[in-house]
Amino acid sequence: MTSEALSNLSHEDRRFPPPEDLAASANVKADAYDAATADFEGFWAEQADRLDWGQKWDRVLNWDDPPFAKWFEGGTINASVNCVDRHVQAGNGDKVAIHWVGEPEDDSRDITYAQLQDEVNKAANALTSLGVTKGDRVAIYLPMIPECVFTMLACARLGAPHTVVFGGFSADALASRVEDCGAKVVVTSDGGYRRGAPSALKPAVDDAVAKLADGEHAVEHVLVVRRTGQDVAWNDDVDVWWHDVVDDQSTEHEPEMHDAEHPLYVMYTSGTTGKPKGILHTTGGYLVGTSYTHWAVFDLKPDTDVYWCTADVGWVTGHSYMVYGPLANGATQVMYEGTPDSPHKGRWWEIIEKYGVTIFYTAPTAIRTFMKWGREIPDKFDLSSVRVLGSVGEPINPEAYVWYRDTIGAGKTPVVDTWWQTETGQILISPLPGVTEAKPGSAMTPLPGIDADVVNDEGESVPDGSGGYLILRKPWPAMLRTIWGDDERYKDTYWSRWPNVYFAGDGAKKDEDGDIWVLGRVDDVMNVSGHRLSTTEIESALVSHPKVAEAAVVGASDEMTGQAPCAFVILRETAVEEADEPGEGADLVQELRNHVAKEIGAIAKPRQILIVPELPKTRSGKIMRRLLRDVAENREIGDVTTLADSSVMNLIQSGMSGSSDE
Ligand code: WT7
Repeated sequence: MTSEALSNLSHEDRRFPPPEDLAASANVKADAYDAATADFEGFWAEQADRLDWGQKWDRVLNWDDPPFAKWFEGGTINASVNCVDRHVQAGNGDKVAIHWVGEPEDDSRDITYAQLQDEVNKAANALTSLGVTKGDRVAIYLPMIPECVFTMLACARLGAPHTVVFGGFSADALASRVEDCGAKVVVTSDGGYRRGAPSALKPAVDDAVAKLADGEHAVEHVLVVRRTGQDVAWNDDVDVWWHDVVDDQSTEHEPEMHDAEHPLYVMYTSGTTGKPKGILHTTGGYLVGTSYTHWAVFDLKPDTDVYWCTADVGWVTGHSYMVYGPLANGATQVMYEGTPDSPHKGRWWEIIEKYGVTIFYTAPTAIRTFMKWGREIPDKFDLSSVRVLGSVGEPINPEAYVWYRDTIGAGKTPVVDTWWQTETGQILISPLPGVTEAKPGSAMTPLPGIDADVVNDEGESVPDGSGGYLILRKPWPAMLRTIWGDDERYKDTYWSRWPNVYFAGDGAKKDEDGDIWVLGRVDDVMNVSGHRLSTTEIESALVSHPKVAEAAVVGASDEMTGQAPCAFVILRETAVEEADEPGEGADLVQELRNHVAKEIGAIAKPRQILIVPELPKTRSGKIMRRLLRDVAENREIGDVTTLADSSVMNLIQSGMSGSSDE
């Protein structure tokens, strides 16, 4: 992290204490921190008691063989029963679970817990009829439609781990995920609505299925929801319509209780190598961690609150804080299919007004977009129902935080800046809205039951007022259990830097009060609009293009998206001649950007691609990304003394005038 970033943050002295009424009736009060410290396992056992178990556990935590944790060992539980059946049994069947809002106006559907139970059971019976049994993997490639939630919960019910792949990922990215986890069924739709138009999904599944057809992991069935009605190619060998297979199924399904450590899902995320990691989450601990934190951090009052998390279900936030956490807590929530500007830039605020949303959870990149559009847009709507605001995905800059609190929260609503990761499964560092005097830009303190710290290279805790690496010293219930099929990579990636310490990959600072400010990644991972991308993955996509000899990618800071990928590319000789032809350079850059979109997905398209004659390397051949970041961020070039050839940077900079943006 730069000392500039550190010192900018230390000028922040605004403080926002909790509103008195919220503090007085908060679900979690200040005593929770001490209680959890005094009896760590007892504290988590108490949170586990908030759920319904088949068999109670024998042991809260088995950490005999770190870093392989077992939580609630000996216990049995079914996630779908906890998210659905138990609320119906408690007499809340008529309560709305999901106010689903489609992107086209007047396309909405309220789903009660009783209806959710019927739909989940039908989907579970349908998956069974397609041959899915406990332990089989099911891939889900769907837009934000209710069938996505039905399918996830049906998988959980059967004990068939799901892997949801974000609809923005390409056919290749989908295929590699389906292959890695060996999914035998893919659930998709013809398409979904985005920015006012139907956007196709099934063609990518068709490509992925074709790609895997002759291999070891051929897909057996593709279950297709009709959402947009657009034309689809049909492969009689594998494709079946949802309405043909699911609609007539029985609404009864007898659930089995699964072992607490039974796999619940695999979520792929980018690491520092080209190959995405399948993060494995299991059942009991994950449900305890997500449901407790959802209840504590958002102060959820299930009888009166209307909760809305805007994340796509294709990312971990959609799993933990749209599906499992809120539904386990019996919340009423909004789920919205589309983009915030369709059909107008006030769509989100219109939804808040219509449904009386009280708790709203979104990402800094969205907040910065709304700031740019202007406060007159949200000001046109009645947002007075909102009582807690949340932020997630990247550090929130104090300016965006204060705008959010003032404009969406009427200048008095607490903002919880929640730090966590795909790997952590649950929120770990965050203010509590009824306890914490919050500072704009700080995730503040580890939640009760969480042991986080900031350490130096030696793994020693840094004093207040200094920066270092963000780490966790103790396991937590929703932690990842391994990387799917790769225990060694799990150990190496997260637990090898210091013994039995989890290293998250983030840099952080402790301020003078010991509060934590997360500064961002310290590895070759970038954060674009709250989504994780790996520099190496984009580099390998670029070098897979026949015209590219070598590529280096850096995450450059970007006003809107936090970071944006910027690529430096050396062409093969034949391509150099071609690119030198007048007008050809820009076409080539466009071709390369599209190639990345095809290989990974549109989110990974570099903001800029610079064609360069050389890359800055150390004498040992390591690319000095720091210098490339200087170029991409239009800064003066830093220290070049360790470069093998110090004239390279002059070459790169002089070539920049010929570079091209979109
Ligand atoms: C990375 C995890 C958490 C779900 C969405 C992203 C960054 C996340 C914050 C925050 C500062 C944050 C970190 C982290 N991050 N939340 N509140 N403040 N940084 O999940 O794709 O696994 O990314 O997002 O860098 O390591 P993810």
